[in-house]
Amino acid sequence: MNIILLGPPGAGKGTQARLLVERLGMIQLSTGDMLRAARRSGTEMGRRVADVMDKGHLVTDDIVIGLIRERLLQGDLGSGVIFDGFPRTLAQADALDDMLAREGLRLDHVVEMRVNDDEALVQRVSGRATCATCGEVYHDATKPIPDDGHCTKCSGTTFNRRGDDNADSMRTRLLAYYKETAPLVGYYYVKRLLRPVDGMGEIDQVAQEVEGILSASPLPGAAVRTA
Ligand code: AP5
Repeated sequence: MNIILLGPPGAGKGTQARLLVERLGMIQLSTGDMLRAARRSGTEMGRRVADVMDKGHLVTDDIVIGLIRERLLQGDLGSGVIFDGFPRTLAQADALDDMLAREGLRLDHVVEMRVNDDEALVQRVSGRATCATCGEVYHDATKPIPDDGHCTKCSGTTFNRRGDDNADSMRTRLLAYYKETAPLVGYYYVKRLLRPVDGMGEIDQVAQEVEGILSASPLPGAAVRTA
């Protein structure tokens, strides 16, 4: 089963993707994580995108499409792929359709994480911290790093905060979402793939809604090939 998690910054895409990886053995493909990894390893592409990301703008389509293409070509897609933060433009959505078709794969669901409170999103990302070892996501108010300073998942003791998790960058990221990415809601609605969930609920409630959608699928747990 292959799905997209669609929603504005802070909607909870990464949080829900990690739960699905744990529970269903799916593979999370996050273009944000891939770009941050390129920055950390100091590649030429990583250096080129650093400033664009910190300011909250979108990286060019050719770069992110290339990252996804490369990963899909490697195969080994577990029980299916969760596209997290990709596609973000209509050009990326068209490219994804082509790439999946070429690999004999199809999209099963586009889970739209609906939110109606941009201030809450700013609060969510402003308090975010991520375990540097395993990527577990924390929040200063709603899911704090344990008092003993050890990650609950891997016992790691180093936590990262993102350069773009501030109010200024968030305004740009939200504008980019509404301008460039929100049209994908209509795009996938017409393709009958759109499945809205309430992204303002508690993390567990959202997870239940998402799993309800996935378990209603005719072929849960399978990386569906059309050819
Ligand atoms: P990316 O890394 O994809 O960031 P984003 O889309 O801005 O999304 P976030 O990671 O901020 O939020 P999320 O929805 O995953 O929320 P999370 O679960 O972490 O992209 C970063 C940048 O890379 C972009 O700005 C762009 O420059 C570039 N980029 C990436 N992909 C691109 C593409 N395809 N095209 C072009 N450029 C691209 O949760 C956030 C916080 O909220 C956490 O602290 C969490 O604990 C908390 N939380 C989660 N769910 C809930 C809940 N239900 N209730 C309360 N708190 C919650």
